[in-house]
Amino acid sequence: MNPWIELGTADIPNAGGQLKLSQRGDEFSIRLSGVRGELMNSRVHGSEEALSELGCAHLKSTADAHVLVGGMGMGFTLMAALKAVMPTSKVTVAELVPEVIEWNKGPLGACAGYPLNDSRTSVHQGDVVELFKDRKPAFDAILLDVDNGPEGLTQTDNHQLYSSQGVAAIQQCLKPKGMLAIWSAFPDEKFLGRLKKAEFQASMKMVRARPGKGSRHTIFLAQKK
Ligand SMILES: C[S@@+](CC[C@H](N)C(=O)[O-])C[C@H]1O[C@@H](n2cnc3c(N)ncnc32)[C@H](O)[C@@H]1O
Repeated sequence: MNPWIELGTADIPNAGGQLKLSQRGDEFSIRLSGVRGELMNSRVHGSEEALSELGCAHLKSTADAHVLVGGMGMGFTLMAALKAVMPTSKVTVAELVPEVIEWNKGPLGACAGYPLNDSRTSVHQGDVVELFKDRKPAFDAILLDVDNGPEGLTQTDNHQLYSSQGVAAIQQCLKPKGMLAIWSAFPDEKFLGRLKKAEFQASMKMVRARPGKGSRHTIFLAQKK
């Protein structure tokens, strides 16, 4: 078996530790430092794609849709969002760690088919939360996969995204009937209740990590009323 080769490391802002990119043959892995484990593996991406397919299902015929993807990772969610919307739509990807964007311009980008090269893609290099500050209804869909679920993992500051105030800010940044979709490794009834209190029509959908098999992941789907 091929050995893992370290391709790069990157500091996560706000004392979030480090990300490490490794390659073994055609398999890539992004790991978090310490005991937090693997953030993303190129072999397993069914639920990351489902995040976009479910979150953008209402946009199939919306010519000028604007979708925000929170977390570039290996680009599977971004590529699936580009496939789910029209050629005249646009997709912004927000990524906290600059090196992740650089890695996706290199060999890592091949995993998802180089979604950064699509002319509909624009990049916000920084914390996705910065895009929720002006509370203007700018997006038709907001797709978040920045942690392991609705709690801060990559950096503790991410907790704010899932708080009542955070959810309310995101709700205000969606256009009417806009969809918030959040990837999670586990269901969370308490968080579902928080979404419902914020004037979302919300549900949890179980999806598989690989087509028809693999781990069960949860997508929170919350449509603005
Ligand atoms: C699990 S990976 C995303 C995987 C991605 N869905 C895919 O298809 O490959 C999480 C990504 O979110 C980024 N991230 C974490 N917190 C963030 C934040 N607050 N704002 C923007 N990006 C963030 C991480 O650096 C990492 O690249």
